[in-house]
Amino acid sequence: MIKLNSHYQKLQSGYLFVEIARRVAAHIERGAGRELIKLGIGDVTRPLSPAIIQAFHDGVNEQAEAKTFHGYGPEQGYAFLREAIAEYDFKRRGCPISADEIFISDGAKCDTGNIQELFAADVRVAVPDPVYPVYVDTNVMAGRSGAWKDGRYSALIYLEGRPENSFAPGPETLGAESADLVYLCFPNNPTGAIASRELLSRWVEWALKNKALLLFDAAYEAFISSEEIPRSIYEIPGADTCAVEFRSFSKTAGFTGTRCAFTVVPKAISIGGASLHSLWNRRHATKTNGVCYPVQKAAAAVYSPQGQRETKESISYYMANARLIRKAMQEAGFQVWGGKHSPYVWIKTGEDSWSTFDTLLQKADVVVTPGSGFGRMGEGFIRISAFNNRDKVEEALERIQKIFSA
Ligand code: MLT
Repeated sequence: MIKLNSHYQKLQSGYLFVEIARRVAAHIERGAGRELIKLGIGDVTRPLSPAIIQAFHDGVNEQAEAKTFHGYGPEQGYAFLREAIAEYDFKRRGCPISADEIFISDGAKCDTGNIQELFAADVRVAVPDPVYPVYVDTNVMAGRSGAWKDGRYSALIYLEGRPENSFAPGPETLGAESADLVYLCFPNNPTGAIASRELLSRWVEWALKNKALLLFDAAYEAFISSEEIPRSIYEIPGADTCAVEFRSFSKTAGFTGTRCAFTVVPKAISIGGASLHSLWNRRHATKTNGVCYPVQKAAAAVYSPQGQRETKESISYYMANARLIRKAMQEAGFQVWGGKHSPYVWIKTGEDSWSTFDTLLQKADVVVTPGSGFGRMGEGFIRISAFNNRDKVEEALERIQKIFSA
């Protein structure tokens, strides 16, 4: 008799963004009066920049000629892209990371979801709360979560983010709990919080002392606008022996629909005498044939001088949106966080967050993300994404302000 993976039965409701899409579809079905403005899922709206699209076209053209055609590429990614990443994202910032420690993939969502496969079913996992739901759900699927009880999984450890700790919990949040794997995300999705050098140093020190592994999601590092704030965990000495880092071109360079990301697994990480790098390499080579050649060409163009200029310009555009969102929500009387080094603004409404979501959908035809979708600590908050065109953001904020001043 076929038996299903019973751990899937423990998953709560639908995946957050699928549930949002379901409610939005029902709203449209009922006949929304005005154009719907989406500030929910963090999906870019600006097209690929000229330098990137040119490289993409060049890659496609190469595939049209026998002389330049590429079949299977290296599973880990082409050297030209891995070397550009190692040089620009790591060596220039003093991080001890080399090209062969970088694995190209089609998304940080997949990589942050898949990494847990390398670990035993009984490792203790700590996740932030609020949390990017992928970290939790993939550990539920793998049978590490324990039962769902009182709004949480009994075997997971939750690192509570609160206004009091600026939504950036440190290792002290673990209390007496001992965790083996700790997921961290900075700049944080959903709260927009950042991690100072001091905070990351404390996490690295804790991981080294406790023989734990940090799973550091840096998908939003490109939005950091201060040199004081580390962009990579590897800026902290010792992190290359206790941390894996996830990065993505999705938000950095508009690749949400093009798909390209990478994960750094340093060779210096040894777990029970085994090399984590070798294990991830083994997994990668078994389960993927990598990312298509033109896409990797396009990603490499992000590091060209023109690509860097255009990418920065695009990020500034979205960050100007974030500033407008912060201002409008503050004027509407709310406390806000994030939006300074992150495209997400985190707003305390103090109300049931799905109710706020429904109100804004039904009365303003604006989609946001309800905080409780990110965990118990997100209740009473909403997240507004800065990814949209300026006129849409302005229109959405006008509509939202009307609702809250009514
Ligand atoms: C988000 O809105 O949280 C992200 O777009 C989701 C993702 O990157 O998968």
